[in-house]
Amino acid sequence: MKTIGVLTSGGDAPGMNAAIRAVVKAAAYNNIKVIGIERGYKGLINGEFKHLTPSVVEDIIDKGGTILKTARSQEFMTDDGQKKALNVLDILGIEGLIVIGGEGSFKGASRLNRLGVKIVAIPATIDNDLGYTDYSIGFDTTLNIVIDCISKVRDTTISHEKATIIEVMGRYCGDIALYAGIAGGAKITLIPEKGIEVNSVCQKLLEDKAKGNLNNIIILAENLYDPLQLKKEIEEKTGINTRVTMLGFIQRGGSPSAFDRILASRMGAKSITLLVKESTSKAIGIRGNFMIDVDIDDAIASKKELNVECYELLKEFSII
Ligand code: F6P
Repeated sequence: MKTIGVLTSGGDAPGMNAAIRAVVKAAAYNNIKVIGIERGYKGLINGEFKHLTPSVVEDIIDKGGTILKTARSQEFMTDDGQKKALNVLDILGIEGLIVIGGEGSFKGASRLNRLGVKIVAIPATIDNDLGYTDYSIGFDTTLNIVIDCISKVRDTTISHEKATIIEVMGRYCGDIALYAGIAGGAKITLIPEKGIEVNSVCQKLLEDKAKGNLNNIIILAENLYDPLQLKKEIEEKTGINTRVTMLGFIQRGGSPSAFDRILASRMGAKSITLLVKESTSKAIGIRGNFMIDVDIDDAIASKKELNVECYELLKEFSII
């Protein structure tokens, strides 16, 4: 293989740049040229690209976001959009494509793969919602941002003897909430995998208040329950003054953690190893600290399971 492409797609995740850097460096080591497709599949359709040499990526390992920009593309979902994408890949002489992103990006990669494009996918999403891999790039950094925010919010929560609902991202996956609940020492952690019973939350808050415990930090995974509605119900049912902090996009920014930089470096290098061996149609993952690669459609089909041991631990250390 002489020329490959790389793109980032979907929501950005800290460590995407470290993955791009690893792809370019490992490719250069194997005398392969890298074309960076800008703005994900949208940019692919429109032919937006730049040449990536080792010097271009030299100083990006510590940068959040993605130097290639990212986008979500409706047009790429259509046959016509995919045809345009194939045409651009052909014109640019791209023989293999590395896609860095989450589940939606993997589905796009799978479509191209079915049309004959050699694909390797690298998981990068703060949600950690891909079932076939223990971790995706970005999750660890987000978790560290979230626990830093919890510490800050805890100071004011305890000083005012109030409760604070901290809403975290994760789309429909509870991993950010679950692990932040453990690492941040939350009193209550509410995740989509387990649902929510507001009456029970209120009851437990009251019981704990009677014991004199003031750590009223409640972590709520997004899309599970309206945080303002929850605040209203807690105040009505317990009389505890309650505030809401929605962490929002602060969770997706900033310099990647050491864990994410290393994970991204390993995955980026592995993607080139696979392309060189012509072992394509693959998604890279990590299991038990070993790099793995699985068929991309199996990766997409793999159901994300809740870490039951961690959930039990959470229950032992908090009141939910
Ligand atoms: O998938 C990453 C993520 O940040 C989710 O946690 C969140 O639900 C979503 O993206 C937000 O999407 P958008 O950037 O399109 O608003």
